[in-house]
Amino acid sequence: MQIRELRKDEFDFATIPGADPGFRKTLKQGMSLRKEFLKKMMAKGLCILVALEDEGKEEKMDYPGVGQVRTKDLSLKGKIVAGLIEYLPIEETNFPARGKNLAFIDCIWVIPPFWKKGIATSLMETLLKRAHLRNFSGAAVIAYEKESWWGFFDYMPSWFFQKVGFRQVQRDGNSILMLKNFGTAKLPKFILPQRKSTSKPGRVTAGLFWRGQCPYSWWVKTLTEEEFGKSGNLESSFVNTDDRKTLEKSGITFGLRIDGKVIYNRMPSWDVENPAGGGEVKKVLKSVPSV
Ligand SMILES: CC(C)(COP(=O)(O)OP(=O)(O)OC[C@H]1O[C@@H](n2cnc3c(N)ncnc32)[C@H](O)[C@@H]1OP(=O)(O)O)[C@@H](O)C(=O)NCCC(=O)NCCS
Repeated sequence: MQIRELRKDEFDFATIPGADPGFRKTLKQGMSLRKEFLKKMMAKGLCILVALEDEGKEEKMDYPGVGQVRTKDLSLKGKIVAGLIEYLPIEETNFPARGKNLAFIDCIWVIPPFWKKGIATSLMETLLKRAHLRNFSGAAVIAYEKESWWGFFDYMPSWFFQKVGFRQVQRDGNSILMLKNFGTAKLPKFILPQRKSTSKPGRVTAGLFWRGQCPYSWWVKTLTEEEFGKSGNLESSFVNTDDRKTLEKSGITFGLRIDGKVIYNRMPSWDVENPAGGGEVKKVLKSVPSV
């Protein structure tokens, strides 16, 4: 396995592991938005490390949750992108955290065929070494406890970060702000979600928060727009949180707010019938009275 940092002209390496081959067409536009987002954020110090594996001789491999996939559909220029980790100065992140001089982890993702082979641990070790070299005073992340995604994996699990030396600094429900302190780091803080009074007589207001970093959040937003955009007396708004100032106003990067009340302050899934599992947004919006 080789771990290396991506250059500005290599964003395809940062999108190919983002979806299994059968799902890429659906997420095509979301993937383009992701590339635009990464380009913008690289100018603000975002760094993407990828773990690359050789293709090997097997034509197909087992992709848990999907089935058999062609090895070449997972590769780019002869290398399988087995995982990635993204980090940037906490001052620039669009996640709801404030802090000083910390490397903030926006995402870690290892593709299912490569789980439990030490890839995430190696990515993290490389990140921590680089964060030291860049004179950060620690690394921080927003992780979750018992947050199952797609029905079969833990979403940004706190247990993983705990294993690699991160410790809880603050908790909001099952979101946990965690820090790996290199020695003198000041503790980061959550930007807590704002309850906002948006109710209008006879109308139900729903705000879906999404960002270009994650093609799934674009997809959930698109499906919500299609199904609920002009629905009865439901007034929907779609808030793109690519800009940190927008995030600071709401304290929500991904999520759903109804009549000012925060229902999800994390990435919600869409539909029960759909393999994306959970069915959170559709279920909640369908249950809104008189919609
Ligand atoms: C969590 C995750 C990063 C772990 O990656 P990985 O490469 O399998 O992790 P490693 O092989 O380095 O394992 C690290 C440790 O975690 C343990 N581990 C890994 N997966 C595990 C699981 N599903 N359950 C329990 N323990 C697990 C390993 O046994 C190992 O423990 P040890 O150090 O005590 O031996 C990976 O499962 C993942 O990408 N999950 C999704 C993360 C996510 O939600 N990203 C955002 C998507 S938008």
